[in-house]
Amino acid sequence: MSKLKLIAKTFAGLEDILAKELKALGAENIKIMRRAVQFDGDSEVMYKANFQCRTALAILVEISKFYAKSTDDLYRKAKEINWSEYLLMDQTFSIHATTYSDVFSHSKYASLKVKDAIADFFRDIYGQRPNVNTDRPDVKFEVHISNNSVTLLLNSSGEALFKRGYRDRTGLAPMNECLAAGIIQLAQYDPEEPLVDFACGAGTILFEACLIAKNVAPGLLNRKYGFQRWLNYNEKLFNQIVEEAKSAVRNVSINIKGYDIDRKMILFCRHNKANADYFEDIRFYQTDLRDVETEKKSGLIIANLPFDERLQVENINQLYEDIGSSMKHHFPGFRAFLFSSNMDALKRIGLKPKVKIPLYSGGMQASLRRYDLYAGTKKHSK
Ligand SMILES: C[S@@+](CC[C@H](N)C(=O)[O-])C[C@H]1O[C@@H](n2cnc3c(N)ncnc32)[C@H](O)[C@@H]1O
Repeated sequence: MSKLKLIAKTFAGLEDILAKELKALGAENIKIMRRAVQFDGDSEVMYKANFQCRTALAILVEISKFYAKSTDDLYRKAKEINWSEYLLMDQTFSIHATTYSDVFSHSKYASLKVKDAIADFFRDIYGQRPNVNTDRPDVKFEVHISNNSVTLLLNSSGEALFKRGYRDRTGLAPMNECLAAGIIQLAQYDPEEPLVDFACGAGTILFEACLIAKNVAPGLLNRKYGFQRWLNYNEKLFNQIVEEAKSAVRNVSINIKGYDIDRKMILFCRHNKANADYFEDIRFYQTDLRDVETEKKSGLIIANLPFDERLQVENINQLYEDIGSSMKHHFPGFRAFLFSSNMDALKRIGLKPKVKIPLYSGGMQASLRRYDLYAGTKKHSK
């Protein structure tokens, strides 16, 4: 199988985790970029990257790389590509451009030029052209321009990979599934330890942790991929990957519990849980996090804290202070990883974080903080 030049997109701060995931799948020449990982691999690696990676948002395949002096030059060079290798007349397509360039300062204009090049390529040969569909295209192209360097890519994932297919109910501030999977890996979750999320919302962190514990590839939740509509789609190879993933599932017992003060969230969690048998043993309870206790001597807390008053909170600073004290009193022996984009409120936790990892949430700067809890954990000045 021929080698492909591939790029996996992710969130800032998760690049190393994604690189590790890709390495385990057989990716070669891995290079960490900003919010992405570049790598080489054949179709099998590309299929597996889509099917198995937990922190990848999309897997892109390079079609062509060239220099362009101007938008006319971009059009001309793009038109030289044999687009009929990637697209049929009756398929729809979309183009998304990202530019970091003085020459190509408008990404929309760059994508328009490439769209014209594709349309004119087909019109010159066949007298007609495939249609654009920005909502649900059959084939998605991407254009990346850095100064004068242009890369044209195919999006092999189709719909973004965080759309796993299990979460059809969410609250006001759901965590992205890929970010949740990355945080669980940063927290070095061990499936044998109890896991608690005391502000679980729609349950994303716990569902992703359960998939990790049972080694369930995200693809086993039955979504479709862009490459399945490509002309060279190898169904036999794909089915082989599905079968391998099925036999790699571990039938382990887990201790995963979610709590939220909002009854609606707990109902949403139970609804989402019913979307896959793998989730059967996760437990959800409607409780104020201040009242959550454990009889376990050690374990892991991961929580995406409410970051403003919209999320069932009367006084955010008071809540964060209470989180610090209740973790200290109710969870001695546990490690806690708290994620929030409210930096001021995080200072109110009053415990000294062992590690602070900068991350982003919905475009906002956020922080993942580790606290090791023990009976004598000292209160920390603000
Ligand atoms: C940022 S959201 C969590 C989102 C979640 N990670 C997801 O993916 O859906 C914070 C959650 O904290 C809950 N919350 C607010 N105050 C709480 C409290 N005192 N006890 C427990 N949960 C609380 C809110 O109802 C909200 O669902």
